[in-house]
Amino acid sequence: MNAKSDEQKAGNRGNAIWPEQTLGELVTYYPRLRTRLEQMGIDYCCGGKRSLAEACRQAGLDPEATMADLEKIRAQDPSAAAATDWSAVTLSDLAGHILDTHHVFTRTQMARIGMLLDKVQNAHRARHGDMLGALRSAFELLKADLETHLMKEEKILFPAIRGIDGFMAGRNARPEVHCGSVFHPIRQMEHEHDAAGALLAKMRGLTGNYRLPDDACQTFKALYEALAALESDLHEHIHLENNILFPASVKQEEAMGEKGL
Ligand SMILES: [Fe+2]
Ligand SMILES: [Fe+2]
Repeated sequence: MNAKSDEQKAGNRGNAIWPEQTLGELVTYYPRLRTRLEQMGIDYCCGGKRSLAEACRQAGLDPEATMADLEKIRAQDPSAAAATDWSAVTLSDLAGHILDTHHVFTRTQMARIGMLLDKVQNAHRARHGDMLGALRSAFELLKADLETHLMKEEKILFPAIRGIDGFMAGRNARPEVHCGSVFHPIRQMEHEHDAAGALLAKMRGLTGNYRLPDDACQTFKALYEALAALESDLHEHIHLENNILFPASVKQEEAMGEKGL
């Protein structure tokens, strides 16, 4: 069973963009609009359940002008919707993609950032010690949170989702789901995504949107690029979970219960 609901398919309204559309749906249909939304300061991953109109109001943007801007980008790039449609693959395949790409990248990137931070703190303590110290604290919190978060998804939630998906497809026996349902683990994961999003925003604020100081060396530049890449990948990662994998898993578990299988 794939993750795209019938309402979502019907709701795409001939590839248009409309104000009541949720941000999660918008970036699911048009993944390449993510860059523009990020430039506008619109959070589409943790805030993906909000409508486009609501997000514009919260960001102090005019909804009509924003929609026109997004529509222009979408129309200019006919392939904008042609990237992988993750709502059209099975939940097991989507979970596999998240694990193989985003979980692996997050761990590798966090280890790299730790090493870069060591070097930059040593070399720039005199002029940037306070900022770098605060950045290090926020990063270590994020790293500790994410290490546990990834492990919980890998050991508990994703095996349950794969079990439900496999059972519905006739590949395995009825799964034993920890806590009796995926609903509560999913809520917990969403709270943890919010916390990670807040720490990413804090690091972006501390660094003035990753703007390099005048005396920055190449390692400083590499550090900021690595942090920005971690942030961008986590946005995509959290979007795939919050807006596609998790709601579709809740629906599939409900369908399993309703069928009394
Ligand atoms: Fe994840
Ligand atoms: Fe997650």
